[in-house]
Amino acid sequence: MAKKSKPSKAKPKSKPAKKSKPAQKTKPAPKAAAKKPAAAPKAAPLPEKRLRMGLLGCGGIANAHIKSLIQIPEYDVVAYCDVVRANAERFQKEYGKGHGTVYEDYRVMFEQAKLDAVTICMPPFAHKDEVMLAAERGIHILIEKPIALTNELAGQMAAAVQKAGVKSQVGFHMRFMKGIERVKELLASKGPAIQYVGRYFCNSLHSPWWRMKDKSGGQIVEQIIHQFDLCRYLLGKPVQVFAYTANLAHRDVENYTVEDVSGTLIRFETGALGIITGTNCAIPGKWLAPSTLVAKGFTVDWGGGSGEITITDGKELKTEPFETGGSPNLGEHLDLLHAILKNRATRTPIGEGAETQKLVIAAYQSAETGKPVDL
Ligand SMILES: NC(=O)c1ccc[n+]([C@@H]2O[C@H](COP(=O)([O-])OP(=O)(O)OC[C@H]3O[C@@H](n4cnc5c(N)ncnc54)[C@H](O)[C@@H]3O)[C@@H](O)[C@H]2O)c1
Repeated sequence: MAKKSKPSKAKPKSKPAKKSKPAQKTKPAPKAAAKKPAAAPKAAPLPEKRLRMGLLGCGGIANAHIKSLIQIPEYDVVAYCDVVRANAERFQKEYGKGHGTVYEDYRVMFEQAKLDAVTICMPPFAHKDEVMLAAERGIHILIEKPIALTNELAGQMAAAVQKAGVKSQVGFHMRFMKGIERVKELLASKGPAIQYVGRYFCNSLHSPWWRMKDKSGGQIVEQIIHQFDLCRYLLGKPVQVFAYTANLAHRDVENYTVEDVSGTLIRFETGALGIITGTNCAIPGKWLAPSTLVAKGFTVDWGGGSGEITITDGKELKTEPFETGGSPNLGEHLDLLHAILKNRATRTPIGEGAETQKLVIAAYQSAETGKPVDL
């Protein structure tokens, strides 16, 4: 078994694990073990041992995940897996300081590493049976978006997680901006939502697989999906979608088969509208995703790390800042951890990933047929 690493010196957002009773895998701790001073009544019960975390896919976004994971003392990152062994080795050396085992095949990692949880950061085309295999072994899962390229695979993943009863979280980090919690509260007290306008503007060729539609799924599926998911999270059940897509500025770029401009209109069950636009022809080096939500009693604008909420249902307009809060990536990991420890749901279980997947795939169906698609 791998040697234990020292907890990170970075300031943890949750409390370090204390040793109390004998190890129990990942079930919520018994009441006696959860007893704590009154000062921290909301903290999750502490695990009786550090939870063994594996990292599957050690590329670009995995850097953000490992930086979050090493801030969480309850996790011990014990396994790094990548088909390119050198990528996993770099992570084990740089972030694990030599602690943890390197794997090239996730099947072997799941068999040997005795994981409690896994963080999956593979590119869209690589998703196959890893979620099913992890779930069967009782391993909790954080998986980057998009969870799959087809509704069939996304549905199988969600079914496997449900059957196994493991916790799951999809990396829709925009749900973890602090201001979104406030917007949810306001929707409950002053709603309903009327219209959501979201943009996703960038200008980059990204990884080589990104520009190939059969590998990434396209800009909507791979990237703008963040806006589709947040729109769903705030506006409820979508019932119809209509989209246009085109490749206008990248026709001479080799293997560039994804769109570089898109516009999508979504009608929700309530009658509210979502309008989502995206392009890969905006400002090089910048990823801009501003949004506006108009509800009956308030309007909120955010983007670029700030924003403002305007309350419109009083005699006078009142404003308050839209807070982006701390690292949304750390937030999604802590939410999964607390779901495991308290045996509660996460904010974005994998079934949510499958629902948002249906929406983005329907947007492409609409763009291909030129007709609205019912959901
Ligand atoms: N939440 C976000 O904001 C965000 C940001 C960037 C990327 N992502 C998502 O994260 C995923 C990964 O993106 P990336 O930019 O890190 O890609 P990347 O190409 O930089 O890294 C992917 C890694 O996975 C490895 N890999 C591929 N197939 C594998 C397999 N079968 N087994 C093990 N390892 C395998 C690759 O060798 C590579 O090291 C994508 O789905 C992407 O959409 C999310």
